[in-house]
Amino acid sequence: MKILVATDKPFAPEAVNGIKEIVEKAGMKFALLEKYTCQDELCKAASDADAMIVRSDKVTKDVVDAAKNLKIVVRAGAGYDNLDLQACCDRKIVAMNTPGQNSNAVAELAIAMMIFMARGQFNPVAGTELKGKNLGIHAYGNVGSLVAKYGKAFGMNVYAFDPYAKPEVLKNDGIIQVNTAEELYEKADYISLHIPSTPETKNSINRALVNRMPKGATIVNTARKDVINEVELLELMKERTDLKYATDIAADLDFTEVGTRFFATPKKMGAQTKEANLNAGIAAANQIVEFLTQGVTKFQVNKF
Ligand code: 3PG
Repeated sequence: MKILVATDKPFAPEAVNGIKEIVEKAGMKFALLEKYTCQDELCKAASDADAMIVRSDKVTKDVVDAAKNLKIVVRAGAGYDNLDLQACCDRKIVAMNTPGQNSNAVAELAIAMMIFMARGQFNPVAGTELKGKNLGIHAYGNVGSLVAKYGKAFGMNVYAFDPYAKPEVLKNDGIIQVNTAEELYEKADYISLHIPSTPETKNSINRALVNRMPKGATIVNTARKDVINEVELLELMKERTDLKYATDIAADLDFTEVGTRFFATPKKMGAQTKEANLNAGIAAANQIVEFLTQGVTKFQVNKF
């Protein structure tokens, strides 16, 4: 059995070593492909793999077709919109994620981005503080609930909108639950996005919604690029010169015109910590070994 770790954005060496150890202890072969330059390279490396561990790497139909022996692919992370689930189902390949394993890293970055924007991107003119401001958590999952907790520690008033979250959980966490996204955006000086990318959420953060935010508001996106309607957001930011947008996923459009009210990290780095790499990588390796040796399908995200 060959287990391929295919990560365009490499894991920390400690995580790679940890995965290798688990794989070899289970009597399987370990292979590594990092910083590849084209999908062909990924297809080639995957051609004789029985299992794959990926991050945001695109596991397209071409990759699935090329990977003739593939039985399982694990997205070491939360969002699995990079996996072609249909192509996996057609070949009865199990797809999994590792929910919660990298959440703390992403949550810390979301808070860091809020402070960075509040302080004029670390420009020493008078900025503002998070204390006393309203934080709106859009989706109260593994990451959203941590951002809420850290926001509270900074003295923020924390609101959340998540139709799937249990009201008693939010109540216990001291979070004010609102019933609509509109209500959340009306309240929030800061919005922290944690919705997945699905056909329903694509482009859903649009002009009408963002325009409800109070003067001087900031949106922080550590979720996915395509949930934002960038055309409408940029248009609105040119009109409303008080709005700010910080993103961990490079924008498609050029936001230069809005100056320091926009910020994008050089490369998606929310989950890029040694701890998150270790947690997600080790979990992925264990899930693969458990699946291949005992048929355990906990964390499977596709059904066939
Ligand atoms: C996730 O969905 O887990 C995060 O977006 C992290 O993605 P990454 O592994 O590509 O950094």
